Amino acid sequence: MIVSIIVAYDAQRGIGRGGTIPWRAPEDLALFKRLTWGHHIIMGRRTFESIGRCLPGRINLVVTRQEHVLPAGCVRAASLEAALAYARERNESECFVIGGGMLYREALPRADRLYISQIEGSFDCDVFFPPLDTEAWEERVAVTITPTQPGASGFTFRVLDRRGQQLPLPHVLSEWVSLH
Ligand SMILES: NC(=O)c1ccc[n+]([C@@H]2O[C@H](COP(=O)([O-])OP(=O)(O)OC[C@H]3O[C@@H](n4cnc5c(N)ncnc54)[C@H](OP(=O)(O)O)[C@@H]3O)[C@@H](O)[C@H]2O)c1
Repeated sequence: MIVSIIVAYDAQRGIGRGGTIPWRAPEDLALFKRLTWGHHIIMGRRTFESIGRCLPGRINLVVTRQEHVLPAGCVRAASLEAALAYARERNESECFVIGGGMLYREALPRADRLYISQIEGSFDCDVFFPPLDTEAWEERVAVTITPTQPGASGFTFRVLDRRGQQLPLPHVLSEWVSLH
């Protein structure tokens, strides 16, 4: 199973402010949906609360130490390890850690792949993605997206694989890249 991280961060590696995401990038949300559709997604409890619902078409694993009652369609996991084991046992080919800051920090040493949308500008964030050891990662894809809607942010989308790994790119990504 490929363990992937998918994140959007700004010029300061900021990922959120006040419990939410402070930019609007609809093209990035559409890409997130396309990449994660049909897969296990793993998130921290605070990210789940900020989304406010289970994302359809995906198996939502919410990592928490508390005995939350989650809505139908979400699965509680007591740790990142437990969430990864759950996905692996169900023969997942690629699972996605979707945030937030705490989960990214825990998952980074375990990750095989990073999908990073680098949002243009700085947004005064209070939660950050951890620093990346650039030597450890190899760029597979880089595409710059110009926003089509007023008020939306542009971004550069990159796929990084852990150096030395030859992992297949998802079919849906190849289609998307050929369109841009
Ligand atoms: N830009 C992006 O791509 C992106 C993506 C996702 C989220 N975000 C932003 O990130 C922010 C939230 O991030 P955050 O760091 O505050 O919180 P988070 O990582 O979403 O959630 C933290 C919570 O997850 C649980 N948790 C973490 N590690 C655990 C472990 N090893 N075992 C059991 N439970 C564990 C704990 O829940 P309990 O307290 O319930 O035990 C912890 O309080 C928001 O602003 C959100 O909008 C941005």
